[in-house]
Amino acid sequence: ATTLATAAERTGRYFGVGVQGYKLTDQTYVGILNREFGVVTPENEMKLDATEPQQNRFNFAPADRIVDHALQQGKRVRGHTLLWHAGQPSWLAGLRGTALRAAMLNHVTQVTAYYRGKVYAWDVVNEAFADGTTGARRDSNFQRTGDDWIEAAFHAARAADPTAKLCYNDYNIENRAHAKTQAVYRMVRDFKARGVPIDCVGLQSHFTANHPVPADFATTLRDFADLGVDVQLTELDIEGSGAAQAENYRRAVTACLAVSRCTGITVWGVRDSDSWRASATPLLFDHSGAEKPAYTAVLDALRCA
Ligand code: G3I
Repeated sequence: ATTLATAAERTGRYFGVGVQGYKLTDQTYVGILNREFGVVTPENEMKLDATEPQQNRFNFAPADRIVDHALQQGKRVRGHTLLWHAGQPSWLAGLRGTALRAAMLNHVTQVTAYYRGKVYAWDVVNEAFADGTTGARRDSNFQRTGDDWIEAAFHAARAADPTAKLCYNDYNIENRAHAKTQAVYRMVRDFKARGVPIDCVGLQSHFTANHPVPADFATTLRDFADLGVDVQLTELDIEGSGAAQAENYRRAVTACLAVSRCTGITVWGVRDSDSWRASATPLLFDHSGAEKPAYTAVLDALRCA
């Protein structure tokens, strides 16, 4: 039978999922994971607090559990995320200036090197731009080490793993008219012009009733791709239910299918009950693991490509 993964692969794309390692003992969860998805993103186990809980003391066991399962199942892995203002261990959050810059680049180097050859794409930097209308950088400890922190991270990741695709990942950059989207666009254009090693832009694609899938989503994707990078929907989930939710999922998938360099889609969890926002019932399978209308809409959109 056709699955999300096989239908996506027929279009030259992947269909992936965010995974929580401790759920790999849940047979319903693992059954859906193994059957339906071709790429896995650890939802939390590769974040800064999980991988470097004490300075220069790395703990890869929780992430390895997910990576090993994925690779054993013939799946690929997206790494999430090397540098983020959130989820920082206290030792890192307390550093400033050159000590912080050195520690953050050491983190990138050590984690990327450890997963060299196992992680096919990294969210090198996550959510570095502020919300709102300014298009400014998000104020963070990393940002306060200087504007060049993002490109320094990409260079460090490239040096540690020349084969991995290096992505910038963010949310609320799906609407091309928004200042945040335009700010990320300008950064990527500048990086490509200066030879900063960036290979892709991850659009998290968390949609809600107030932030629906834009009618011109494909144009946003195409604008980024035309800069010479891949685009990926990296954390897709859509608040809602029934036919309306299914239609929104169809629109998101169709937008990616319309752009050749949209290389894949990842939904941010397996079942609604696995979601970071379970009450929004935003995923393709319900709490019991049953396929929802949104699942059927996604599969149909992929098969009609
Ligand atoms: O592991 C601890 C557990 O030991 C503790 O008992 C429990 C209660 O405090 O917390 C557990 O950690 C939680 C972790 O998820 C694992 O379940 C954290 O509190 C909780 O904050 C964390 O939430 C995650 C969130 O990122 C913050 O890291 C969500 O699962 C995850 O879906 C969400 O994902 C983010 C992306 O990384 C970036 N884009 C936005 C997206 C949604 O916020």
